[in-house]
Amino acid sequence: MRIYEVITKKKRGEALTATEIRNVIEGFTHGEIADYHMAALLMAVYFRGMNAEETAALTMAMVESGEYVDLKPLKHTEKTITVDKHSTGGVGDKTTLAVVPIVAACGVPIAKMSGRGLGHTGGTIDKLEAIPGFNTKLSGAEFMGIVKKIGLCVAGQSANLAPADKRLYALRDVTATVDSIPLIAASIMSKKIAAGADAILLDVKTGSGAFMKSLEDARALAQIMVETGNNCGRKTAAIITDMSAPLGSAIGNSLELIEVIQLLKGERISQNLLQLCEELAANMLFLAEKGELKECRVLAKEAITSGGALQKLADMVEAQGGNRSYIESPAQFPQAKTVAEITAPHSGYITETDTEGIGIAAMILGAGRTRPEDEIDYSAGIVLNFGINDYVEKGQVLARFHTNSQPLISEASEKFLQSLTFSNSPAKPLPLIHERIGL
Ligand code: URA
Repeated sequence: MRIYEVITKKKRGEALTATEIRNVIEGFTHGEIADYHMAALLMAVYFRGMNAEETAALTMAMVESGEYVDLKPLKHTEKTITVDKHSTGGVGDKTTLAVVPIVAACGVPIAKMSGRGLGHTGGTIDKLEAIPGFNTKLSGAEFMGIVKKIGLCVAGQSANLAPADKRLYALRDVTATVDSIPLIAASIMSKKIAAGADAILLDVKTGSGAFMKSLEDARALAQIMVETGNNCGRKTAAIITDMSAPLGSAIGNSLELIEVIQLLKGERISQNLLQLCEELAANMLFLAEKGELKECRVLAKEAITSGGALQKLADMVEAQGGNRSYIESPAQFPQAKTVAEITAPHSGYITETDTEGIGIAAMILGAGRTRPEDEIDYSAGIVLNFGINDYVEKGQVLARFHTNSQPLISEASEKFLQSLTFSNSPAKPLPLIHERIGL
């Protein structure tokens, strides 16, 4: 079938066959299908959608465009189940940095490939690179060698992991077709499936700081990703979690790492962050068949209180070329030259945040990139001094801005203050965990 006919079929709202989808992805990857044809097909998919079978076929075609990571050598016994996690991204979402060591401390090997920040959201690889010397660009042999030795490793995605997704994503980015649920699902799941784990836990965020702002869209994305993962032979489950406010207090690369170290040391930090990290870790342990969910929650808590998870994080930092003493004494992280206090312009309850706006304020301070080639200022970011529904007095410190470029503070402060809603009474609190799918 010719590409013109495939586009016409999708334009009319008909389902494509697995063979048609495979041929399109193969043709596109090998340069036989032009960008203009692919762009037209993407827009047809954007408006007409794809059913579960088409989404699974698209996912597998993208997986097959590159190499698979084989995690079998990590299995201590036939019963060992390897698990992976993915977050759809948010502001202050540093859960991977805590969850990976917690799960590894419970004896489940974790070989995780992560991404960089995207728009207003941060990325695990950028956060880890805030540790001087930490190497995220590992060969396949180095990556597997580290997991075999210490039970965990987090590296950047290898270039040959679902390369069709990379080309397709670049085209979606310039043709206004990123926010299509089947295209997002196939993009995320192709990389997760190629990364080789037997089981996958998806943390699908919803709220003002998430890509999926409404619960309805988050649910639709979670359902199709879970179905796609299961259709492709991976035990897949999702948790829909709240991103209507930043997660924890810190936003920005080294600031978030410091908050994770505090969490793993059992120091007082945001209860939401602690609860979500424990819940994600427990659900991963459950998928790895370490026990009933209740038992897995106990294991996750114990990994923190025993210091086992902190030890695993330090082991990983050392194995990947970083200085483990930064984990033991995080005061060593380079500090930004300027720390500015941002105060409340009036009194009231802070009932709501435009969390994407807060993420953008952190980006303005230097914590994120506006273009892929931008350099990150690892010490830049925001430390919040309030939680949702807190009452604040006029002049009270709401946040501390960390930056190496003082002139950026006024623009970031304007964006930040515009992102807060002050009310005369508190709002109804939102749950941290909205729904579970496939668990
Ligand atoms: N993240 C991805 O990896 N792909 C998408 O399409 C959107 C977010």
